[in-house]
Amino acid sequence: MVEHYDFLNFIKSRRSIRKLKSEFIPRDIIEEILNVAISAPSAHNAQPWHFIIIDDDKVKVELADSMAQVWQEDLSKDGLSKDEIKRLTEASKQRIINSSILVVPCLTMEDMDKYPDERRKNAEYLMAVQSISAAIQNLLLAIHAKGLGACWRCAPLFCIDAVRKVLKIPDKFEPQALIEIGYPLEHPKMPSRKPLKSVISYNKWR
Ligand SMILES: Cc1cc2nc3c(=O)[nH]c(=O)nc-3n(C[C@H](O)[C@H](O)[C@H](O)COP(=O)(O)O)c2cc1C
Repeated sequence: MVEHYDFLNFIKSRRSIRKLKSEFIPRDIIEEILNVAISAPSAHNAQPWHFIIIDDDKVKVELADSMAQVWQEDLSKDGLSKDEIKRLTEASKQRIINSSILVVPCLTMEDMDKYPDERRKNAEYLMAVQSISAAIQNLLLAIHAKGLGACWRCAPLFCIDAVRKVLKIPDKFEPQALIEIGYPLEHPKMPSRKPLKSVISYNKWR
């Protein structure tokens, strides 16, 4: 059994790994870590998620190209130079293509409670997002426990339609993130955290 102290330190030792070796990871390992992901808590136990696992290089390239195209258009509107746009989008594409496995967590409101008013609809949506986020954090910790590395990327939120099209995601599901997974090629230190005292209050907001 993991000692309490070791377990807390294990959680703290997880890092975002952005340099990954694209070595083969068997599907039984992927399913083992996905099983940990789906053991996360979820609002109403609705489990408002579906995870697309990408281990086909052709799909990785198709997804990377399609996402980069949307990003190129956005960066161009932002006024960045052609060279800078190429540098940023190429680096992003390489990260995606060089991952052993990609996981795209998708959100669904299908089994969440239904309300007629915006206030409660919005609360249900946030609960679903919080639930899938808990599953993603479980996924990251399981990956870490297996000696693998991963990075949570937000990019699909900026190009939902492009991701949907490539991965044939039905309308009722919304891609939320892209998790790059592979064997770690770097061991970064923990980026600084705000001091605990600055982010907590007792009883009432200080
Ligand atoms: C919702 C979310 C979106 C993120 N998106 C990106 C991203 O697009 N690219 C990236 O390199 N890291 C991304 N990260 C990773 C954060 O940059 C990272 O967690 C943070 O810098 C702290 O580092 P650590 O994970 O090593 O503790 C994201 C993390 C979260 C939770």
